[in-house]
Amino acid sequence: MKRLRHLIDISDLTTAEIDGLIATAEDIMTHRAKYAHACEGKKIATLFFEPSTRTRLSFEAAMLELGGSTLGFASASASSTTKGESVMDTIRTVGAYADIIAMRHPLEGAALAASQRSIVPVVNAGDGGHCHPTQTLADLLTIKNRHGRLDHLVVGICGDLKYGRTVHSLINALSRYPGNRFVMISPPELTIPNYVRYEILEPRSAEWTECRTIEDCIADLDVLYMTRIQRERFSDINEYERLKDSYVLNAEKMKAAKADMSVLHPLPRVKEINVDVDDDPRACYFRQVEYGKFMRMALILKLLADAESGEFPDPVRRPLTDLGTYRCGNPKCVTAVETDLKQMFSLRDATHDIYRCEYCETKVKKPRY
Ligand code: CP
Repeated sequence: MKRLRHLIDISDLTTAEIDGLIATAEDIMTHRAKYAHACEGKKIATLFFEPSTRTRLSFEAAMLELGGSTLGFASASASSTTKGESVMDTIRTVGAYADIIAMRHPLEGAALAASQRSIVPVVNAGDGGHCHPTQTLADLLTIKNRHGRLDHLVVGICGDLKYGRTVHSLINALSRYPGNRFVMISPPELTIPNYVRYEILEPRSAEWTECRTIEDCIADLDVLYMTRIQRERFSDINEYERLKDSYVLNAEKMKAAKADMSVLHPLPRVKEINVDVDDDPRACYFRQVEYGKFMRMALILKLLADAESGEFPDPVRRPLTDLGTYRCGNPKCVTAVETDLKQMFSLRDATHDIYRCEYCETKVKKPRY
């Protein structure tokens, strides 16, 4: 059977491959005509079970600018999901119509599940609060373009660090480059998940600190990555109401920032960046939107070429441990809904006997039999 390349997590790409995608995107930006027919006859299916403006449209614009075409749906209600069809069957079906699939789904691990069934490459366009690797590619191109490097930067990440899928993927990518230091700016309720702390930052000896206000750290930052407090991720609406306006970046606060600091935001924003920042030359979030299209063009080219050749590095997968009949306890995990899926767990901390679900990273203590 043909080997397929998927992008489910930013860890599926080596650092050299990320650098290669950035180089391709930069080439596309300067030589648009060279790529105008690169995907002629190819189709991308955009399957968005959760709302999107940028990600879906940029995948579609990317394929159209490469000379290919698009099909898909923009909400679960426009698909046979409403009749009870599983994600797995949807993916297997769409592989008959398209050469590559970009999928967003509210359940964590949905893209990994889809990739197990797909006959064409699957790109994770966001799986619940888990990860969003193509947003990270857009973020990296923006930072590289603005600062000329991806290393030795002080990066403030502000807002919802707990459920912010873009945050998890960005930390995973930037902590691979030497000398980067992170300042995590969030309320105590929305700090980074333990798997990011202990399984990404700590093993890489990445330097990071926590901060409760923008004012306390803005002067030190090279990059300030703002995020939205996401109403859709909270199970307790009162907690959302209490936290939603925790951070607002405005022109007054920007006065304390370095002259060459960059403000990024994956968007959409609500109130966390005041419109009086938009005309500041350090505001990069609309440029970031454009760069997202170029990075997705580079990614489509790469995944289609890899699928054609079958030559690419094996994805780094952790060895799985059979936990018998144990099931992941996270109600937002894809396995909670798609109950036919094989449960997958891996050992992450042998000292404390900690296992995690491979789909959603939820911690499990190995059950005693
Ligand atoms: N950044 C991002 O994922 O935006 P959309 O939700 O509009 O796709």
